[in-house]
Amino acid sequence: MERNRGPGYSYRVQDVRLDPMTAGEFEDRLGAVMSEYVAEQIQVGNWSSSDAEELARVQQRRLLPHGIETPGMHWYVARTPPDQVIGFLWLATEPTDPITGGAWIYAIEVDPHYRGRGLGRQLLQAAELEARRLGATAIALNVFGPNRIARQLYESSGYDVTSLQMRKSLD
Ligand SMILES: CC(C)(COP(=O)(O)OP(=O)(O)OC[C@H]1O[C@@H](n2cnc3c(N)ncnc32)[C@H](O)[C@@H]1OP(=O)(O)O)[C@@H](O)C(=O)NCCC(=O)NCCS
Repeated sequence: MERNRGPGYSYRVQDVRLDPMTAGEFEDRLGAVMSEYVAEQIQVGNWSSSDAEELARVQQRRLLPHGIETPGMHWYVARTPPDQVIGFLWLATEPTDPITGGAWIYAIEVDPHYRGRGLGRQLLQAAELEARRLGATAIALNVFGPNRIARQLYESSGYDVTSLQMRKSLD
């Protein structure tokens, strides 16, 4: 594992490098992030399709009042050498938070074409290194129940379940 101490805050774990996002890259990614979030909330039955878009807008305003400039929110493009974009990371840090220990992964994604090659695991390792560099002593995240691939990745990477929401439709 190589640690890159060059300009900015770019880390390299084997093949995956994290570079801070530009404002344009952030705008390109944000719409897809929110759409996927809406789809997952509807899929698990938390939100109805009629008010999901509005609920997502409320969440976005709460979490990202200043967009990419929101304090404590860190967005990165993930690249493999020499310069191939393979995914992205949205990491939040609050080093004084006693519950999460300081870091929360809001979104971690390998672009579809690059999945299943070990890059997601490397991206997660890069996220952990970056969280540590930013002062966190632990890292946490939410994963929706049906997302078995992500759950397997986290469980096999040493993440423990801290709470589990369950739901049964009474239709
Ligand atoms: C979750 C995600 C980041 C994993 O990235 P990836 O590059 O495909 O994952 P990797 O190839 O590194 O595989 C990591 C682990 O995921 C699991 N996994 C990957 N592909 C899988 C598949 N097709 N079926 C079952 N498990 C799979 C395995 O446990 C694998 O570990 P292993 O190879 O040691 O068995 C990627 O699927 C993704 O971007 N999904 C959409 C966004 C998302 O759901 N993000 C997580 C939100 S919580």
